Amino acid sequence: LRHLTSLEHLPRATIERLLDRAEAMRDACAHGTRKLDLLTGRTVLNLFFEPSTRTRTSFELAARRLGADVINFDLGLSSTSKGEAMFDTLHTLEAMHLDAIIVRHKVSGTPDELVRHAMSGVSVINAGDGNRAHPTQGLLDALTIRQHRPDFHQLVVTICGDVKHSRVARSDVHALSALGAKEIRLCAPSGLMPAQTDFPHCRLFDNFDSAIEGADAVIMLRLQKERMTATDLPDEAAYFQHYGLDKRRLALAAKGCLVMHPGPINRGIEIASDVADGAQSRILEQVGNGVFVRMAVLNEVLGR
Ligand code: CP
Repeated sequence: LRHLTSLEHLPRATIERLLDRAEAMRDACAHGTRKLDLLTGRTVLNLFFEPSTRTRTSFELAARRLGADVINFDLGLSSTSKGEAMFDTLHTLEAMHLDAIIVRHKVSGTPDELVRHAMSGVSVINAGDGNRAHPTQGLLDALTIRQHRPDFHQLVVTICGDVKHSRVARSDVHALSALGAKEIRLCAPSGLMPAQTDFPHCRLFDNFDSAIEGADAVIMLRLQKERMTATDLPDEAAYFQHYGLDKRRLALAAKGCLVMHPGPINRGIEIASDVADGAQSRILEQVGNGVFVRMAVLNEVLGR
C-alpha cells in the first residue's frame, strides 16, 4: 500500500497482513525493544484539523518507535489561521521533503483529495474524515476482537449508538466483513441510523435489548454532538435508558462479551461507568493496540 484512506475494497489478505504485523510489533515491544530502526531517516507529519487524543498521540508514538522523525502541525500557530488554503499548506509542507502525512479532517473525502494533490513520494494516511472512514480504528478494533475471538465465522458483533455520524462504524464494518464475521448488527435510534443501503451486509435494529442478545462483542459509539444541530440532540437521560450499555443489558449478550468503545467515552450517556471500567471492558486494550496497528500501517506505506 502507498496510502491508507479507507478499508473499503481492501482485500482480506491485506487486512490480515496488517493485523499480523501489528502483532509482531507488539511482540517486539513486549520483549523490551523500545525502538525499531525500520523508518530511520523518514519524516511523518501529523496534520489534524479536528481534535484528537488517542489517534494523534499513538501515531506519534508509533512513528518514533519505528525511528522516524515526527512533526506535529499546530493548526492554531500555523498560517492556516491567516487564511492559507489547505492545498497551499500541503505543498509548502511537502517542499520540506515529508514522507507521510497523517490527516484528520471534518470533511469526508479530504484524505483522497490530498492523495490527488500530493506530490509523488508522499504517503497519505487517513486519521478520520467526516463520517466516512477511520481505517486505523477499524484495524485496531478488529485486532482487539481477534485476540479474544479468533474464529470470525462464529462472531456476532453489535455496534450501537450514533451510527449516522460514525466513521468508526463504517471502518469497523469494512474490517469485520472482510474478515468474515458471521453477523454485524447496527443499533441506533431512527434519527441516528443511516439507510440500509449504506450497510447492505448488516442487520439494523432500533431496540438495543434485541441487538445485543447473544453478541460476542459490543462496540459503543459516542453521540457526536459537534456534528448535530441543537434540534437533533437527543435527551441524554432518555438516550441512556434506551441505548446506554449497563450491566442489565450486558447480561443479555454472550458470556464474556467484549465491551469496546473507540473513545472518547461519555460516561452515563452511552455507557455506564461500572461497565466501561468493568472486567469485560477492552477499551484500554484498544488504545494499546492502536500504537501497534499504527506502527504496522506506517511500516506498510513507508517501509522499503
Ligand atoms: N478513537 C479516536 O479517534 O479517538 P481520538 O479522537 O481521541 O483520536
